[in-house]
Amino acid sequence: MLQEFNKINKVEGVLELPGDKSISHRAVMFSSLAKGKSIIYNLSNGEDVRSTQKCFKELGIEIKPDGKGVEVLGRGFGGLRTPANKLDAGNSGTTTRLISGILAAQSFESTIIGDESLSRRPMKRIIFPLTLMGAKIVATENSTLPLKIFPVEKLNSIRYEMPVASAQVKSAVLLAGLHCDETTSVIEKFPSRDHTEKMLGLKTETTPAGKISFVSKQNYPEPKEYLVPSDISTAAFFIVLTVLAENSSLKIKNVSLNDTRTGVITVLQKMGARIEIENKKNIAGEDLGDLVIFSSTLKNISIDKKIIPNIIDEIPILAVAGIFASGRFEIKNAEELRAKETDRIKSICSNLNMLGLHAEESEDGFSFSGEIKKVRPEFNSFGDHRIAMAFGILSLLLEDGGNVQNYECVNISNPDFLNQLKNVTK
Ligand code: S3P
Repeated sequence: MLQEFNKINKVEGVLELPGDKSISHRAVMFSSLAKGKSIIYNLSNGEDVRSTQKCFKELGIEIKPDGKGVEVLGRGFGGLRTPANKLDAGNSGTTTRLISGILAAQSFESTIIGDESLSRRPMKRIIFPLTLMGAKIVATENSTLPLKIFPVEKLNSIRYEMPVASAQVKSAVLLAGLHCDETTSVIEKFPSRDHTEKMLGLKTETTPAGKISFVSKQNYPEPKEYLVPSDISTAAFFIVLTVLAENSSLKIKNVSLNDTRTGVITVLQKMGARIEIENKKNIAGEDLGDLVIFSSTLKNISIDKKIIPNIIDEIPILAVAGIFASGRFEIKNAEELRAKETDRIKSICSNLNMLGLHAEESEDGFSFSGEIKKVRPEFNSFGDHRIAMAFGILSLLLEDGGNVQNYECVNISNPDFLNQLKNVTK
């Protein structure tokens, strides 16, 4: 579907966004594992989190709306049921990789399938450490979906040094380790998002070798009430729009401010953006607060290697900010972008070049500078929700607007994107 976007004059108002996708996946998973009733408020309404719910329903968990929240009746340790069907993770890498760690420890066989994009994404990164723990997983020759996971006698705890900065891989190992008597530890040189550790209350240590997280059966989750903060990765699109639009200001309420996720704010502030934080609080280990954003003038900066895992999902919209900033925009050390819903280095550069900018790809990033030449460009999302929203935002800032082809994939993380835009733009 082709979506048209026309130039906006300004951004103003107050916005509250659906729940953070990463926290929502984990809230559904942990309440499914816990024995008894949990309630999740402000759960993400995107298709990815629906895929996680669908998988756990298939595993015998009752999940239903309850007033303003979602009720999950978890079945406790060893309580998941043999699925009658294959588990369909749709487009969701997080569902696939996290659930693999859980399924590897079960006493039944299961198969995970996904859509075309997910079926191309690398799974060796989880198959390898889970196999070290004793799991039996069979994938295609290229280590892609479908994944067949067979029951084994028992999993062994391991000490695993992460070769890639990935919260999904770390969480797969930790969730398998949650089923072991002995302690499993995971070591990360460049820390990735830490929702699994925070939400399970895991012990962590910062050492010269990196951050170490520890898990065992003792950390098995209990039922509880979850309040999911607004998704900072979704907020990022509105932050950049407000910063770049003239005479604008916007408040976004209750945004997740977990410090492994706020890199996008740090980078934009260093570029010159005026973003203020109000009402900061902590609920169940997770920081959140209100963001107040104002129109600003930006300059491009050098982006530190250490912050890349912290901004990995926001790079498409940071690139849009970079178009309107002085100097050359450059991203390095971000080869993980090639393993996302699309090869995001290719998708971003293809859209930028179509605009008349000179984008140069490298193995681990891209850079560009130049002037926009194309009038009313037609961007392609390549089926990737974050590419669709980033270039939708760009279109709202262009004199003659722009179009986004294959727009419907925004439903993966934020089905209400257009309505939210309508509420805060003029
Ligand atoms: C996620 C981790 C990140 C991120 C994804 C969500 C998570 O992936 O890109 O959108 O919830 O754990 P990687 O950990 O593979 O980088």
